[in-house]
Amino acid sequence: MNVLAIESSCDETAVALVRDGRQVLCDCIASQVDVHRVYGGVVPEIASRKHMEAISGLAEEALRQAGLGRGEIDAVAVTCGPGLIGALLVGVNFAKAAALALGVPLVPVHHLRGHIAANYLAYPQLEPPFLCLVVSGGHTMIVDVAGYTEMEILGGTRDDAAGECFDKVARVLGMPYPGGAALDRTAAGAPEGKYPLPVAHVHGNPLDMSFSGLKTAALNCIHNARQRDEALDVPALCADFSRAVSDTLVPRTAAALEQTGRKKLAIAGGVAANSRIRRDFTEVCARLGVELYAPPLKLCGDNGAMIGAQGYYELLAGHTAGPDLNAYATLPLSP
Ligand code: KG4
Ligand code: ZN
Repeated sequence: MNVLAIESSCDETAVALVRDGRQVLCDCIASQVDVHRVYGGVVPEIASRKHMEAISGLAEEALRQAGLGRGEIDAVAVTCGPGLIGALLVGVNFAKAAALALGVPLVPVHHLRGHIAANYLAYPQLEPPFLCLVVSGGHTMIVDVAGYTEMEILGGTRDDAAGECFDKVARVLGMPYPGGAALDRTAAGAPEGKYPLPVAHVHGNPLDMSFSGLKTAALNCIHNARQRDEALDVPALCADFSRAVSDTLVPRTAAALEQTGRKKLAIAGGVAANSRIRRDFTEVCARLGVELYAPPLKLCGDNGAMIGAQGYYELLAGHTAGPDLNAYATLPLSP
């Protein structure tokens, strides 16, 4: 079954064709990062306009690259939330029109379910149940994936998302948006322990986490050095910051593995590309006897193929929508 997949929740317009939830026939992305970089972050109105400009041409290009005719598309999957509402609406309306014109089912997909499903593309043998840590620019959560469409959030951030903190600290250090990857590269090989940054513990659910204190501490560190005209060891600060984020994520995910008894851990979302986090999970999973699934960097960030993968399983579960489908800025992972 060939699924045409559309993703437009933030600053990448993406169209992919995915066969049977596992095989990527093409994965086309028109990134707007360069446009938003000038402003230091995503400007929602500009994002919507850029999606409008790109989407039709990208869909044509996707069909051309996959070597498929319109009649060979069996369903249209689209991210319907969460994300920037204006940006989402462009994708949702395009998908509605495409499904109607082709006479095929329309399948709404939760953006974070898509991130989780990126693992099905990277690991054709992976099947639920497994645990997944979703760490993106806007979300940080530990999800129990009991089935392809049955998911439960076991814990998550109470305030900022991990990616948001990476981007904010990187921005204050003068790195271009989105700075997470640049901060990661800057940290490579730097010594640790020079800047002791806090790892917060929150009351209540032991699997919950908090990043706002860490973000503030890192920003204070940078501002204090500047005010005192002291040299800041930027690579060392980046290394200590990455360590603190990892020390927040990894032990809680390990606790969730012990709590659930799951023997497979997947990681997903843009921040799952972080080298320190990947290294720490490799170690901890080896120690716990848990199999780690860490998709290649390209599949960690936003892409259309992940929506096509999850869309296939949503379709099998009968989760289709009509032309009244809406887009949602916030959307629960499980209804
Ligand atoms: O999943 P994603 O592409 O978009 C959202 O759904 O938010 O995640 C983007 C986030 C950004 O905050 C970006 O800075 C971060 O992922 N990111 C990284 C790395 N690569 C991307 N953060 C830390 N280290 C990286 N290597
Ligand atoms: Zn995303």
